[in-house]
Amino acid sequence: MEQSKKVILTGDRPTGKLHLGHYVGSLQNRIKLQEEYKQFILIADVQALTDNFENPEKVRNNVIEVALDYLAVGLKPDLNTFIIQSMVPELSELTIYYLNLVTLARLQRNPTVKDEMQQKGFGTNLPAGFLIYPVSQAADITAFKADLVPVGGDQLPMIEQTNEIVRRFNYIYKTNALIECEALVSDIERLPGTDGQAKMSKSLDNSIYISDTADEIARKVKGMYTDPSHIRVEDPGKVEGNPVFTYLDAFDDDQEKVKELKEHYQRGGLGDVAVKQRLTDILVSTFEPVRQKRVEFEQDKDAVMKMLFDGTKKAREVAAKTLADVKKAMLLEYA
Ligand code: TRP
Repeated sequence: MEQSKKVILTGDRPTGKLHLGHYVGSLQNRIKLQEEYKQFILIADVQALTDNFENPEKVRNNVIEVALDYLAVGLKPDLNTFIIQSMVPELSELTIYYLNLVTLARLQRNPTVKDEMQQKGFGTNLPAGFLIYPVSQAADITAFKADLVPVGGDQLPMIEQTNEIVRRFNYIYKTNALIECEALVSDIERLPGTDGQAKMSKSLDNSIYISDTADEIARKVKGMYTDPSHIRVEDPGKVEGNPVFTYLDAFDDDQEKVKELKEHYQRGGLGDVAVKQRLTDILVSTFEPVRQKRVEFEQDKDAVMKMLFDGTKKAREVAAKTLADVKKAMLLEYA
């Protein structure tokens, strides 16, 4: 019953390989939902350029890296439609029409955009393209008539803004061409960096990548931030804000054991080395098969690109249909 399947649209900016934060934040949900839903997965190169326009090589080179990560974690080409965003110009066209329905003040109030603006230190040199990326994201979501959008928690304001645009569009142009979507946020909201910072980020060099080798994983876990006042093994330690335990929460199948370890750590008598060893073993056994699968896909990059082109072609047909409905509603139907 292909027809009755609900639609998912998600995506990632191709600015680097995907890390464990992506894995717990959205990839796991996508893997779980790929059978039940019709899932579109967007490699958002247009969006990536909004804050990387001076580094086109970076964006270009990471399109295939992200695709390899998708395949390696188990997203199946026959169950998902993978899309290269820039090859669907209908998305840009939709963006232009939606921009009329959004005020500058509303864009400046978007908390995610605000955070990112500050982080990147744009100051008064804010590129207009960056400021409006939530509108282009609304185009992505609505073009495929997505019912559900599995994203990290930082993307919630994007979903809210998308639904505002949908309601305004349908109201002003007296249509039901666009549909509202729902966000699906993972139980584990966000995985901290190995340095204990709130988020994994390429620039902070605090990420463990899905494609890391066993040695890299071991090295990174060894260097992980823990409770700085937990100096000797007998000292009582803190588990809150201790990324080693946050990672165990996310990846250890034996949560009873994790509870025990936490209690032991808090009482004192459990060393960082032992807990980190457990985490290393778990991460290696989870991600070593993923890495090996990735190496296999890497052998035939042409096949991976072809998969992206096939998906993009299919996606373009869907987006073109939505664009036609939108233009009709806006009386832009001349022939
Ligand atoms: N903003 C997302 C990110 O930074 C990427 C993205 C682009 C996206 N378009 C989307 C996510 C549509 C969900 C839906 O990773």
